[in-house]
Amino acid sequence: MIKLTDITRSFSNGDETVIALNKVSLEIRENEFVAIMGSSGSGKSTLMNVLGCLDTPNSGSYFLNNEDVASMKDEYLSDIRNKHIGFIFQTFHLLPKLDVCENIKLPLRYSDVDESEATTRSETLIERVGLSHRKHHKPFEMSGGQRQRVAIARALINRPSVILADEPTGNLDSKTSVDIMNLLTELHKAGQTIVMVTHEDEIAEYAQRVIVMRDGEIIEERKN
Ligand SMILES: Nc1ncnc2c1ncn2[C@@H]1O[C@H](COP(=O)(O)OP(=O)(O)O)[C@@H](O)[C@H]1O
Ligand SMILES: [Mg+2]
Repeated sequence: MIKLTDITRSFSNGDETVIALNKVSLEIRENEFVAIMGSSGSGKSTLMNVLGCLDTPNSGSYFLNNEDVASMKDEYLSDIRNKHIGFIFQTFHLLPKLDVCENIKLPLRYSDVDESEATTRSETLIERVGLSHRKHHKPFEMSGGQRQRVAIARALINRPSVILADEPTGNLDSKTSVDIMNLLTELHKAGQTIVMVTHEDEIAEYAQRVIVMRDGEIIEERKN
């Protein structure tokens, strides 16, 4: 489903060039749950940005569902992103003025899914993440764990091929982290493909496969 071959991404700051990804090759099959680990600056976020079609590599190929997205222009990339990818962030990224239901429906705003279908999907997902009693709350009225549940429901609304989660428990206490990881595990069991960045071993334990990065390269892979 995801196939990266020799992906390189470098950034130049003045006369210095940083190679954030150095010929990274990686395959992720449908319904895998993969954790990406590695110290700060090792290239994890750059890899997630490439996987999520938020960034274009300098070289290499990236096939997502058999489509070559590595060399696509921005307008096509945003389309691929809307159709195929769900994002979850450490800091939730909810819109403060919108309630739970509206936040969850947001990714469908520029899609061809109509309003009534959007509401039906949103209601189903609100139930699935256990927030039926919070439908019309605003983010500031909820705990971190509840906010991340909203973000997870939002990531699912376009029925993405893959969920990309960058440190999904990074802002949560350990008990809430377990709740969120149990929810991600449920989604995985129901068929969802998930790629998650974490620096915590206990969190990586939930994945089936762990990839370790250093200096822009994959230096280790193991199965859990
Ligand atoms: N937009 C950017 N401009 C310049 N350098 C960047 C940019 N994004 C990342 N880098 C550099 O690329 C390397 C990898 O960064 P990143 O992917 O954010 O690592 P991680 O997420 O593992 O901490 C770092 O040296 C970082 O400074
Ligand atoms: Mg990072």
